[in-house]
Amino acid sequence: MSSRRPILVLASVFVPFVFGLGWAGVATARPSYATSAGNSCSGCHTTPESGRLQIDGTDGVLDLGTQLDGNTRGALQLFQVVPGNTVTLSMQVLSWDGVFAVQFKRLEKSGQQSSLTNFLSWLEDNVPGNTWTLQEVSNPPYYTKDDGSDGGLPASSAGPFSFDLFIDPATPPDVYDLEFAIGGVNTNSDLIYQDQHFYLEVVPEPALGASALTMLASLGAVYASRRRLGPS
Ligand code: HEC
Repeated sequence: MSSRRPILVLASVFVPFVFGLGWAGVATARPSYATSAGNSCSGCHTTPESGRLQIDGTDGVLDLGTQLDGNTRGALQLFQVVPGNTVTLSMQVLSWDGVFAVQFKRLEKSGQQSSLTNFLSWLEDNVPGNTWTLQEVSNPPYYTKDDGSDGGLPASSAGPFSFDLFIDPATPPDVYDLEFAIGGVNTNSDLIYQDQHFYLEVVPEPALGASALTMLASLGAVYASRRRLGPS
């Protein structure tokens, strides 16, 4: 009981100190701001940029026309993955001016080709050293590639940046509409931003499916010919 007093004293000294640090932290905690802004950097980073973001190493392009959610995105870069595997999603930042952080988001969105009730089941699978910061409050999480202290990277560290995403075997095949974005501050102190959607297609195991079908077909043929040859 008597030990309460020193704790209270300590608390009264440290609480304002910690809050002070907290506010100082918020003032520089830019890549994490979007957790309170619907995961969108562009609400504050209102100066649009173009030609600064390139999606790399894809399996081609895909145009879904009108997606199930009503959006028409045109031809987007496409990554493909078989459930139970890891896919490397890769992008780079081209001639950025100032500092930036990369955002990777929309992992919570539904399938856009087969069913709005299909969802990704995923795990971050980045190798040690390839650090992405999980930004999460109460809304769906997003990741940022930042300086590790919630600040920006210099333009010279333009990537390529990759995110290894493990797709759980339970994920239903579909086309998922994901996004990389870059937000930052240029040398004129403008809050700049660019984003780029891309597709992740979760495809069923091809080899197994095809060979099983071939086997069934040939079994069927053998069965049919036996019936034809057999005594009637
Ligand atoms: C609520 C408004 C707001 C949102 C949302 C927001 N930012 Fe910012 N951001 C700012 C402001 C304001 C600054 C400038 C602060 C300063 O440098 O004084 C800033 C600065 C930055 C910086 C420069 C940090 C540094 O080290 O100087 C980066 C990088 C950045 N934002 C990235 C992002 C990214 C990426 C997102 C989305 C994931 C984002 N911001 C969302 C308001 C926001």
